[in-house]
Amino acid sequence: MKNKQRNISPSILSANFTRLKEDINIVEELGVDRLHVDVMDGHFVPNLTFGPFIIKQIREITNLHLETHLMISNPEKYIKHYADAGSDTIIIHYEASKNITKDLKLIRSYNKMAGIAINPDTDYKHIEKYLDCLDYILIMSVFPGFGGQSFIEPTLKTMESIVEMSKNHNIVIGVDGGVNLSTIKKVYDTGIDVTIVGSALYGASNIEQRYNDLLNTH
Ligand code: DX5
Ligand code: ZN
Repeated sequence: MKNKQRNISPSILSANFTRLKEDINIVEELGVDRLHVDVMDGHFVPNLTFGPFIIKQIREITNLHLETHLMISNPEKYIKHYADAGSDTIIIHYEASKNITKDLKLIRSYNKMAGIAINPDTDYKHIEKYLDCLDYILIMSVFPGFGGQSFIEPTLKTMESIVEMSKNHNIVIGVDGGVNLSTIKKVYDTGIDVTIVGSALYGASNIEQRYNDLLNTH
């Protein structure tokens, strides 16, 4: 599936938190419709970010669709907090959840879209049995924990396989990690729907120019 419209979800992990509102306004004005929010617990991944408190404040300043990527152990304990904070999609990790069906149903019980993320070394076939409970699949093209890592090429094959596997379901497929001017074309050529872009967008000296280049690079 080629030439599909490119949908970019900026990752605020690479934004400047001393002027987060301005950094969110910049991408709103570029016309994005979603924002990627990375929650890390220092346990499931070797880094820490923030919790529902910050997401609640982000919710107050934007109407963008907030996709909350939970890189945390025991996600079941915290799903309600991220739903109450105003997330629109809540993404748990396959590798972190102890009861995936239960967790996905819990997310949907709060009228939120339910997502699952899979690490680069997780066999995508494990998620086939959850397709009916899923609204979003996030394919990690780096090992989660940090922005600015290099794209792991073999995950392109996983993207193609997941696009094929979910073609009869209404599921958004996102790709997270190492998406930049050199990798974005091959990622979209697999047929996925959304790329998450952190450092390659917020790290640019001209964010607007970079955004347009990311949309148009062939
Ligand atoms: C990585 C995070 C990503 C991160 C991507 O653990 O899940 O969302 O912000 O950053 P870049 O685009 O810099 O690889
Ligand atoms: Zn992420």
